[in-house]
Amino acid sequence: MTEGLRKGLASYGDAGFSLFLRKAFIKAMGYSDDALDRPIVGITNTYSDYNPCHGNVPDIIAAAKRGVMLSGAMPFAFPTISIHESFSHPTSMYLRNLMAMDTEEMIRAQPMDAIIVIGGCDKTLPAQIMAAVSADLPTVVIPVGPMVVGHHKGEVLGACTDCRRLWAKYRAGEIDDNEIEAVNGRLAPSVGTCMVMGTASTMACVSEALGLSLPMSATIPAPHAERFRLAEASGRVAARMAKAKGPKPSEFLTEASFRNAQVVLQAIGGSTNGLIHLTAIANRTSHKIDLEAFDKLGREVPVLVDLKPSGEHYMEHFHHAGGVPKLMAQLGDLLDLDARTIEGRTLREVVAAAEEVPGQDAIRDKQHPIKPEGSMAVLHGNLAPRGAVIKHAAASPKLLQHTGRAVVFESVEDMTLRIDDPELDVNADDVLVLRNAGPKGAPGMPEAGYLPIPKKLGRAGVKDMVRISDARMSGTAFGTIVLHITPEAAVGGPLALVKNGDRIRLDVERRRIELLVDEAELNQRQTALKPATTPEWAQRGYARLFNETILQADEGCDFDFMRANGKG
Ligand code: FES
Repeated sequence: MTEGLRKGLASYGDAGFSLFLRKAFIKAMGYSDDALDRPIVGITNTYSDYNPCHGNVPDIIAAAKRGVMLSGAMPFAFPTISIHESFSHPTSMYLRNLMAMDTEEMIRAQPMDAIIVIGGCDKTLPAQIMAAVSADLPTVVIPVGPMVVGHHKGEVLGACTDCRRLWAKYRAGEIDDNEIEAVNGRLAPSVGTCMVMGTASTMACVSEALGLSLPMSATIPAPHAERFRLAEASGRVAARMAKAKGPKPSEFLTEASFRNAQVVLQAIGGSTNGLIHLTAIANRTSHKIDLEAFDKLGREVPVLVDLKPSGEHYMEHFHHAGGVPKLMAQLGDLLDLDARTIEGRTLREVVAAAEEVPGQDAIRDKQHPIKPEGSMAVLHGNLAPRGAVIKHAAASPKLLQHTGRAVVFESVEDMTLRIDDPELDVNADDVLVLRNAGPKGAPGMPEAGYLPIPKKLGRAGVKDMVRISDARMSGTAFGTIVLHITPEAAVGGPLALVKNGDRIRLDVERRRIELLVDEAELNQRQTALKPATTPEWAQRGYARLFNETILQADEGCDFDFMRANGKG
């Protein structure tokens, strides 16, 4: 079997010449023949001046390289696309699949026997894991780690739950211009990913639960020395995998691994985005995420991690309490502890080594959960024939059963223009409806599902309302918010049929979301819908590919031809 530098030669019709040429060029960097004869560990470099979450990537790469070389292999770092949430127009989700394709193809194109992917900001780990399982090369995932917490007026602050909370206070006139400026400088006090249980933290925990990262990888704060020791250890593991040619993701990711990831997703109070990403990852393997089964797990698995936005603490507290290994120890038989990790160990061994931290209160036991049920529920009904999701752990309990009058916004732009209009006919019991914000409609399914409370209601003290959409929501947000309504309005889903004043019933206990309009009327409205045409933004390039092949939320929003079996 070819390995190291001999893998995947450029095609000149003469393999000997291809290798001769490759070595001639790479020697320009000063490598010796001994170095070039070693197994190779590729390392993705997602450092970017546009991505502050990845600010420690150069140091992680240096540490990982050290680990690789100490174990007798040769590291090669290479750049890929990097995506930061607040620097991605129109939305980071629009670019996730591009990053997954870029990463997969660069793994395939360049010679390497194992790969270390380093990511963290929301879409990056999903994209990298999607790429790695598709390329099916021995893979180690190193998350960049969470930021440390910020402080303001004696209060602990976390991006971005407190970004939203304090912005809402500012909108409601409770804090002034000077204070919101001061807060702006304190919400992100270090490099690293958002330090609440947002999508970045969620996917890092999911990666650990899948066995793709070393224990504690998800939680060590980004600036801590421990993170760089973990990167060195990850480098050693990758070198071992490069020499052993395994295990590949296809060799240790089983049905049980994906079930474990869903259990952890529920127990951490994870981001709703995590469900979309995990679905996309599974679809690139021979496994599937079944929404009904996920919902059923939600009824059995309690939320045990006390982190914002569902609870009180932040990622560094989760870490100091024992991290994901301790959480998995508390979950015990809710997990399949025989599932394996990249090190060849079982989760049972990982759990056995979990740290016991006296007096910690960030990771509860099953007898004292934060919430007796998991964080997310899957809803169905005539508004969401293929499902919708609510993070009920971060919702207002009194709104989980609610019927109200629809106030409809046609698009994100429409919502932005009208939500604060003093003339808007809206009251606290209404249901705010946003449509055309799904995978195709927006495009890229922006995190617009957290519709702001209309200013006039915010000023009157309204903190939460039922909000429904085909959009996504940041995992850091709080509220009674129904997301991912599928099919989306832009492809003719029933959300497109809602009119102002219709009544909508949400019943989370029964897992229902319904438009209380009779069927004959709905059929009439459906017939009157204009057929979808190719939008202006989707005439060429990546936009066209996106528009023509993007799947709905229940299928992970991957491109249809990127699934394990292609277009099928
Ligand atoms: Fe990068 Fe939150 S913005 S993880």
